[in-house]
Amino acid sequence: MRIEAADVVVVGGGAAGLSAALAALETFATDGRNAARVALVSKVYPMRSHTVAAEGGAAGVVPWGDDSLDAHLADTLASGSGLGDQAAAQWILERAPRELARLDRLGMPWSRDDSGRPAVRRFGGMSNPRTWFAADKTGFHMLHTLFQESLRHTLTTADSRDSAAPSIIRYDEHIALDLLMSDGGGARGIVAYDQQQGHVVAFVAPAVILATGGAARAWGTSTNAGIVTGDGLSMALRAGLALRDIEFVQVHPTCLPATGILITEAARGEGGVLLDRNGDRYLADYGLGPVTPVGQPVPRTMELGPRDRLSQAFWKADRDGRTIPWHDGADGAAGSVGAAGGGETDAASGTSAGARRNVVHLDLRHVGDFLLKTRLPLVTGLARRYVGVDPRFGLIPVCPAAHYTMGGIPTTPQGQVLDGAGQAVPGLYAAGECASTGLHGANRLGSNSLVETLVVGRAAGALAAGDTGSFDGLSASPRYSTTDKALTDQAEALAQPWLAMRGQGSESPAHIRRDLGALLDADVGIYCDADGLARARASIDSLRQRFADVRVADTSSVFNTDWAQALQVGAMLDVAAAVVAAAEGRHESRGAHQRIDHPDADAAPKHSIVVTGQTGVPEVSYV
Ligand code: FUM
Repeated sequence: MRIEAADVVVVGGGAAGLSAALAALETFATDGRNAARVALVSKVYPMRSHTVAAEGGAAGVVPWGDDSLDAHLADTLASGSGLGDQAAAQWILERAPRELARLDRLGMPWSRDDSGRPAVRRFGGMSNPRTWFAADKTGFHMLHTLFQESLRHTLTTADSRDSAAPSIIRYDEHIALDLLMSDGGGARGIVAYDQQQGHVVAFVAPAVILATGGAARAWGTSTNAGIVTGDGLSMALRAGLALRDIEFVQVHPTCLPATGILITEAARGEGGVLLDRNGDRYLADYGLGPVTPVGQPVPRTMELGPRDRLSQAFWKADRDGRTIPWHDGADGAAGSVGAAGGGETDAASGTSAGARRNVVHLDLRHVGDFLLKTRLPLVTGLARRYVGVDPRFGLIPVCPAAHYTMGGIPTTPQGQVLDGAGQAVPGLYAAGECASTGLHGANRLGSNSLVETLVVGRAAGALAAGDTGSFDGLSASPRYSTTDKALTDQAEALAQPWLAMRGQGSESPAHIRRDLGALLDADVGIYCDADGLARARASIDSLRQRFADVRVADTSSVFNTDWAQALQVGAMLDVAAAVVAAAEGRHESRGAHQRIDHPDADAAPKHSIVVTGQTGVPEVSYV
C-alpha cells in the first residue's frame, strides 16, 4: 500500500472539486504556506466528470436588469416547497454572481448580449432571466475553464513536488473506497485504489472534501453519466455519517427516450413548447397555465413552470392517454413515433435497445435557425443524431428521466459536513451534488446547482485549507510518506474486503444494475405509493443479497473495470436503499416526492436523516 500525505484531499474532479482545490491553493498562498499540497483524487480524468454534461446554465442575478437577490431567493425557496433553508440559500445565492464573474475572468466563453455582457436566459421556475450560459454547453465550458486554471497549479511528476508554491497533485483514475476516520470521529483521509498502477493508496490529510456527485444513474432512465453512482454518499454511510432528504430525486421532464440524454430546459426558455399526441399544449390542463403565446415564454408559466410540476404533468398526461408511444429500434436505428395511442408505460424496460417509451413532443420549429445555431447547437445535434429529428422541421420526442440528487451529506452552506445530530465532523467537507446544503429543498431550480458547485466548493476549499488543527498528530514529515501504524492498519482493513471481491462470485453486476434501474423506474419515480415503495424495498434487499455474491471475473490489479463496475453497483444499491427507506416514511407529497396515497404536504416540513444501522439496514428519522 502506498501512502500519500497532503494538506487537503479533494475527492472528485468536477466543478465542485476543482473549485475547492483552487480555493485551497489561494488560502495557502495568502497564508504563505508555499509547501502546501492539495491531492485531487478522481476516478476519471477530470474533464470526463459529469459537470461536462450540464447544458442550460448557471443562475446568478445580473445588475443590469430588473432582477434582484430577493427574487432569486424567493424563486429558490418557492421551488424548494418549504424544505429549503433560507439562510443557507441566501448565503449561496448572494455569492453566485461573483463566482460567475470570476469564471469570466478565467476565460469562460459565456454567451454575450448585444452590449458584450454575459447574456442571461429564462429557466423554469425563475421569475426573471438570470441563467448565465455558454450556448447549451455550459458545463463543458465551465469544467474546461476550471480545469485549465487548475493545470497552472498542478505538479505532474514526483520530481517537481518540491515546487515553492502551493500546488495540486492529481491522482486520476483512482477509485475512492472509504473514508479514513479518527477515533474521535474526524476525517483523516481516504483509502483509494490506483487503477493505473494497481495498488491501494491511503491519502492522509487534515481535511477531506467530498465532491463526488449524485446517484441518479441508479435509475434505468437517467440523464446521468455512467459514473454518477453515489460513491461518496455510500462512503459517508459506511463511515457512520448521515444522508439528509435523500428521497428527493429530481426527474427532468425533457430527455430523449431510450438514452435519457438531456434536452435542456433552455430549449423551452428560448421558446420551445410541449405538445401532446393531438398537438395540444397539455400543460395548461395540469395547473401550469394560462397558455402562453407560442415562442413568447412567460416566467413560471406553462413550459417554464418548475421542473417537478412539468414531470408530474407528463405522468398525468400519460395516464390520460395523451402521450405518444415511441419505439427505439432494436437494431440501434433511430427511434420512431408510433400511431397515436398509448397511456401505457413500459417502465421496466430500462435503457436497453428495443425499449418502448411514451413521449410528448418538444416543438422548436418556430425558434428559428439563428437561435438554434447560436444558443442550442448541442441539443440540435443530439436530436438529429439520436432520434433522427431536425428541430427546424420536426418534433423532438421527449420524456422524463432521473436527473439530480437533491439530498445528500448534510453540510453548512460553507460545505462543513454535519453528522446526524447536526454537529460538525472535524476535517470533513462536502460540495456539489453529494452535499445537502439547504439550497434546493424538495425541488431544485434548474441552473442553481452549477453555481452551488462554485460557491460551496470554494468555501469548503478555503475552510479546509485552514484546517491544520485536526491532523490527529499525523506527521507530514517526511511529507510524502508516513509510518503511522494505526493508520496503515485502518486503511488496509478497509481496503481488504473490496480487494477480496476480485475473482469471486457468480451474480452478474450488469444484471444487478439493470434490475436496480428497472425497479427504481417502476416504483420510485415521479409518483409513488406505499405498495410500490414496499416492493422496491424488497427488491433492493434481494439485489443486495445477490450483490454479496457479485461476480468479478477479472482478477487483474490494473485497470480492472469489472471490479470498478461492481464497486459502483454496490454504491448505487446503498443509496437506493436509503432513498426508498426515507421515501417510505415520508407520508406527504412535497416537491419531487409525490405520494399518490398521501397527496398533501404536512403543515410543518421535516428533513429526513438516514444512517446505516448495525445490520446494514437504513434507519430513518425525521427532524
Ligand atoms: O435543463 C438543463 O439544462 C438542466 C439544468 C440543471 O439541471 O441545472
